Amino acid sequence: PTFSATSTAPVNIATLKYWGKRDVKLNLPTNSSISVTLSQDDLRATTTARASDRYTQDKLWLNGTREEIEKKPRTLTVINELRKARAEMEKADPSLPGLASLKLQIVSENNFPTAAGLASSAAGFAALVNAVALLYKLPHSPTELSVLARQGSGSACRSLFGGYVAWEMGSKDDGSDSQAVEVAPIGHWPSMKAAVLVVSAAKKDVSSTAGMQVTVHTSTLFKERITNVVPQRFEKMKKAIIDRDFPEFARLTMADSNQFHAVCLDSEPPIFYLNDVSRAAIRTVEAINAAAGKIIAAYTFDAGPNCVIYYLEENEQAVLSGLSCLNGVSGFPQVSAAASGDDRWSQQLAAGIERVIMTKVGPGPQSIDAE
Ligand code: DP6
Repeated sequence: PTFSATSTAPVNIATLKYWGKRDVKLNLPTNSSISVTLSQDDLRATTTARASDRYTQDKLWLNGTREEIEKKPRTLTVINELRKARAEMEKADPSLPGLASLKLQIVSENNFPTAAGLASSAAGFAALVNAVALLYKLPHSPTELSVLARQGSGSACRSLFGGYVAWEMGSKDDGSDSQAVEVAPIGHWPSMKAAVLVVSAAKKDVSSTAGMQVTVHTSTLFKERITNVVPQRFEKMKKAIIDRDFPEFARLTMADSNQFHAVCLDSEPPIFYLNDVSRAAIRTVEAINAAAGKIIAAYTFDAGPNCVIYYLEENEQAVLSGLSCLNGVSGFPQVSAAASGDDRWSQQLAAGIERVIMTKVGPGPQSIDAE
């Protein structure tokens, strides 16, 4: 027989960045981080896992292309961990079908281009872990599954939850307490929206996996960040979310994105993820906040030039009119132009953005059990 289960999982974009590992093999971070989970209507990975006595080896397809699992140590680790958990269940209850001994076929697809440089590995590993856990009927909670997803890609652990999520760095050597927890569900602050500004022809500098190691080993500013900045910022950001304090949330988010890119620049050799288009986006968000007379928008950038702008639904008109230079860009809703705005930044921004994804805070993985 063939057993099958399918799961989707969301993308998450950190507002307090994970950058640095204290254990490279287990993806144990040097600091805790926080993210917002984005809606799967717009960005998601869908993974189907099958186990069958007809399969002769484990196989994996990503977006239609066969991948060699043997050459992907992190994928191997995640699959081994899931299989081990199933084997223990079967040992405890011999009446269960022997799935642990069967080979797996795993098929994963994103509904957005991987090349867009959008946290695709986070959604991918979260969907893989959830699909196989469903297939194996593992009793694990989302937090327990996040420990497995983390070993695939650090940021993936945060995609096991919807809403507002923290990855607690933990202190144990085996990583069993380095896990994701919910800070608040979507319903607590449902009006959070996000505009993802995808930069044209974005070429990635260094991968995050490699880049963060360079930073850990060479940046002096990094030590200051993980010792004296992030621990306090982690508590403040959780409080801002609980209090639904957007200006505070936004200030912390922008400061943390800027410090993450500062420690990249402070690395040897320096790492540049932001480009002129990214900087134009920062100036444009500053202009939006200045025009509003209060903070209504927050920018953040991961390991690439794409800009994610967080804002609340009630301020959508003001935020979008401040971005009216993007009228005509694919995915951007036609809006009436802002009264003022610095033409220099607007022109540079408009020329460099290829696509906009309008999205919002969303739920965690969705399971589709098919057996
Ligand atoms: C800048 O999770 O991709 O997006 O653990 O090596 O797979 P690995 O790294 P990854 O790093 C993400 C870095 C970031 C910040 C964040 O998402 O917190």
